[in-house]
Amino acid sequence: MLDRLDQQPADALLALIKLYDADPRADKIDLGVGVYRTDDGATPVFAAVKAAEQKLVAEQDSKAYLGPEGDMGFVHALMPYVFGAQNPTMDGRIDGMQAPGGTGGLRLAFALAKRAGIKRIITGGPTWPNHPQILADLGMESVNFNHARADGTADLDALRTAIANAQDGDALLLHGCCHNPTGIDYTPAQWDEIAALVADSGLLPIIDLAYQGLGQGMEEDAAGMRKVLAAVPEALICYSCDKNFGLYRERVGALYVLTRSAADTAKVLTNGHILARVNWSQPPDHGAAAARIVLEDAGLTRQWLAELDEMRGRMREVRDALAAADNRVAGLDLTAIATQNGLFSILNLDKDQILAIRERHGVYMAGSGRINVAGLTMGNIEKFIAALADVAG
Ligand code: LMR
Repeated sequence: MLDRLDQQPADALLALIKLYDADPRADKIDLGVGVYRTDDGATPVFAAVKAAEQKLVAEQDSKAYLGPEGDMGFVHALMPYVFGAQNPTMDGRIDGMQAPGGTGGLRLAFALAKRAGIKRIITGGPTWPNHPQILADLGMESVNFNHARADGTADLDALRTAIANAQDGDALLLHGCCHNPTGIDYTPAQWDEIAALVADSGLLPIIDLAYQGLGQGMEEDAAGMRKVLAAVPEALICYSCDKNFGLYRERVGALYVLTRSAADTAKVLTNGHILARVNWSQPPDHGAAAARIVLEDAGLTRQWLAELDEMRGRMREVRDALAAADNRVAGLDLTAIATQNGLFSILNLDKDQILAIRERHGVYMAGSGRINVAGLTMGNIEKFIAALADVAG
């Protein structure tokens, strides 16, 4: 029976990791999958996380099961950062559960929406390719609107129209910050408008917050989402610690639920617990426990936030350097890169140019033209700009 299954292509983004590894050129540049890199091109474990892991190994006395909700100490310790220190539970209306990475949080959110009778998720495009892929796997429909205008800013008209055309019982997927793949975030004024429009529409907002702290700052990157949460009765929030704790392969994330009351939130989460049980039973513990230890220790928290500041500062420098090279690359507008946020921006290159920059120059980027700006360093950025000028000119 299994021979009925067709051969499937490898995930295009993850396949880039292997293609890059197999390239023997010493000066190759990896701008593919979204991991942070230092100016030496390394992706080290955060020092705060390393210290927490050491403490965990020394002090953990059991690895017995915790349950489908995972480490609730981790889930709750994160909440002041995500929802604000003042009233992180919004009077008990928000609670959550641990999930295997942001992807696990998304899977839970979409499946919960499906259980609640939602069939269509309105999604700005381009988006992270795994969003529509998970929705398709759940038999849900993605309805697309255009996220990015040609000048590298957000297409608010398209979002307004998508909200106006929404049907009863639709959900709207929003990227909280550091939009993947475009880096184009909404301005504070745009978030004000979006919060009001979403509240009027009755749409269920599902917010993917996978890069908090990598855009403008921990508070700034959550501010837009918080405006939406303040305006609506219900929402689902999918959170990832993969990037802002550098825990990628440990798969650390969470799903948070906002409803009208603490009792409703608890009831919705029992559905999340069943979904976790049928998918992975219980989330992996180690990374979330390490993040919890960081968050419970004031010194480690300070160290973690300082490390995050440094990462953000370096990415800002790379963005500024790329934008400043705009006049050296004919045929491409690089200026908007300085105004965008997080790991990613999209370059307006076609398939042939993306292949040419890989074959001729050993520069690896996603097929959409997305680059991971953290893959650029003061050591390789000149080569990258020259390569761009070669293929785009
Ligand atoms: C990315 O978009 O590169 C990251 O979110 C990693 C992934 O799993 O795709």
